[in-house]
Amino acid sequence: MTPHPLLLSSLFLLATTPLARAEQALDERIKIEAGGAFFASECQRCHSVTADRQTYGPPLENVIGRRAGSVPDYAYSPALAQAGFTWTEGALRAWMEDNQAFVPGTKMRHVGVTDPVVQAFILAWLKQPRS
Ligand code: HEC
Repeated sequence: MTPHPLLLSSLFLLATTPLARAEQALDERIKIEAGGAFFASECQRCHSVTADRQTYGPPLENVIGRRAGSVPDYAYSPALAQAGFTWTEGALRAWMEDNQAFVPGTKMRHVGVTDPVVQAFILAWLKQPRS
């Protein structure tokens, strides 16, 4: 059944109202908050999201678009230092799913964040703008 044209135009209006924009902003906030909680339980004991704090793992500030193994002064494993790829969302998902299969020889202990929804939350947290 084709939707009635009036229904289509009211859906369009709905999607562009301030309320709809507020709902979108809320969705984004919820993703980031949930991502922060997952990051805290799965990643934070070894990583920070700002470059100014020394942690066991490299800082993950602006990691998307960054070349793997490229934070100056961080002692990467040879495997990651020589991996030669750039972190994308897809690469991060594969890494979270099974980092040791993705880059054999990495010194990051295996983490197995296999749920794509949890991965999406953590990505939202990593992507949020930070000054
Ligand atoms: C037990 C400590 C530990 C935990 C937990 C951990 N990491 Fe790591 N992570 C490391 C270490 C150590 C490295 C450096 C690996 C190497 O040099 O081979 C690393 C490297 C990385 C890198 C590569 C960064 C770069 O500069 O190329 C990413 C991305 C990353 N971790 C993401 C995560 C995420 C996301 C989580 C949580 C789901 C997580 N890590 C959990 C220790 C950890």
